[in-house]
Amino acid sequence: MPADLSPIDKAKFVAAKRAVDFVETGMKIGLGTGSTSAWMVRCLAERIREEGLKVVGVPTSTRTAELARSLGVPVTSLDEAKWLDLTIDGADEFDPQLNLIKGGGAALLQEKIVATASDQMIVIADAAKDVANLGAFPLPVEIIPFGWQTTKALIEEMLVSMDVLNRDVTLRMNGDAPLVTDEANYIVDLHLKRIGNPRQLSLVLNQIPGVVENGLFIDICDKVIIGHGDGRVVLR
Ligand code: 5RP
Repeated sequence: MPADLSPIDKAKFVAAKRAVDFVETGMKIGLGTGSTSAWMVRCLAERIREEGLKVVGVPTSTRTAELARSLGVPVTSLDEAKWLDLTIDGADEFDPQLNLIKGGGAALLQEKIVATASDQMIVIADAAKDVANLGAFPLPVEIIPFGWQTTKALIEEMLVSMDVLNRDVTLRMNGDAPLVTDEANYIVDLHLKRIGNPRQLSLVLNQIPGVVENGLFIDICDKVIIGHGDGRVVLR
């Protein structure tokens, strides 16, 4: 373990390291995005270097692709790989059914496509992401830039029609300009506090013209590896 890690980084590191134990030679691996996934890419690079592990990774963002290449992890596109053995990715929240909120790092679209194209998805997370109900973390929704204000208004109208109490919707910014995703879209964050029915909300959101995808991952995650600041790891 790298020296002098803060408790939160130690939690992320131990979860990432445990997840990389599930990787075997010959596998095609979806590489998630975010600070926990960055630890996973570093741990994977170490196994490639020290054990001669032979794998190919499909990154879920430009950031992850750059990190993987810089550390000598071979990467390819999803179109080339077609189907993956395993995706390892972080999450912003997970509930007891292993439903997730993802997209805090604005990579939810590629992350959902890659995880869905995998035999297995393992989520790596620090214990703070473990929640009884999703929704304290604002739900990211990727929308196309054309007519984004109309799409945002349609989302707000839908939340009213579903009797959602807390329903602030904010455009994610990058300084003075809207944040632009790797797929050249915008993100709106839905501040809902509590999501009563994640499956229904996900379906309804994706019906709205202009919505590309939402950050609810339902029935996609198979296992969560939870890291703790004292170095303990719990599998769920
Ligand atoms: C990026 C994501 C990340 O996995 C999520 O935001 C968790 O990030 P971190 O590991 O930095 O806490 O969904 O779109």
